[in-house]
Amino acid sequence: MEELSLAGGKAHVAADRAELARAAAEAVASAARTAVAARGRFALALSGGSTPRDLYRLLAADPLTAAMPWPAVHLYWGDERCVPPDHVESNFRMVREALLDKVPIPAGNVHRIPAEDPDSERAAERYEAELRASFGLGPLELPRFDLVLLGLGLDGHTASLFPGTGAVAVSDRLCFALRVEKLATHRITLSLPVLNAARGVAFLAAGADKAEPLRALAAGARSADELPAGAVRPRDGELAFWLDREAASLLPR
Ligand code: 6PG
Repeated sequence: MEELSLAGGKAHVAADRAELARAAAEAVASAARTAVAARGRFALALSGGSTPRDLYRLLAADPLTAAMPWPAVHLYWGDERCVPPDHVESNFRMVREALLDKVPIPAGNVHRIPAEDPDSERAAERYEAELRASFGLGPLELPRFDLVLLGLGLDGHTASLFPGTGAVAVSDRLCFALRVEKLATHRITLSLPVLNAARGVAFLAAGADKAEPLRALAAGARSADELPAGAVRPRDGELAFWLDREAASLLPR
């Protein structure tokens, strides 16, 4: 596994997607054991999209699943499409099929974004209340996730912080709803301050089409609104990138 410095964090470059999924899944399991040993719970924010699916499947299978402290694991979503939870576009559905249906995680530990609510603002407010309750937060406190998994869009978005929408600048809420014109859809997303409050953030990116956004991220020449993924810099946490060789192909060596 090649290691590179990237955007203030560390990039781990696997030979292919299979090795990427294995290595990232092992890192998640290790973070889970460390968090539970230290604080009795592992608060993990999951990424949507397609890249993390194999990682989730590996966490649901031997040998890793036996190493996961499932009763103390709390799962959240970094973002969600505003569709029902059984919709083909639902990030919750993807995680349910790859992971939740196969592991002994208590139902109360699964903190789903209620994105089926036709009032997306109200859905975001409900999720914010769920975050505050499950982390035991006061009105001005931020949840401190042990680990946030993030993807990287071709346009440099992460979670649902899309470029050119001003989403990356939202700092007065833990999560919020936004209209993504180019996708003609509404999304709900964690805000950037929540991502940057995490103990660990891990991007997952694979495939040649992610080489350009990663190159731009490494160059650091774009504004946060132009490249929201580049604004993710945990204030007091680790930043990691789990990549395959194709995605890392334009990174400076
Ligand atoms: C989503 C994700 C989004 C995703 C990127 C990369 O809801 O789609 O949260 O930020 O991680 O678009 O998606 P892929 O992994 O499918 O390339």
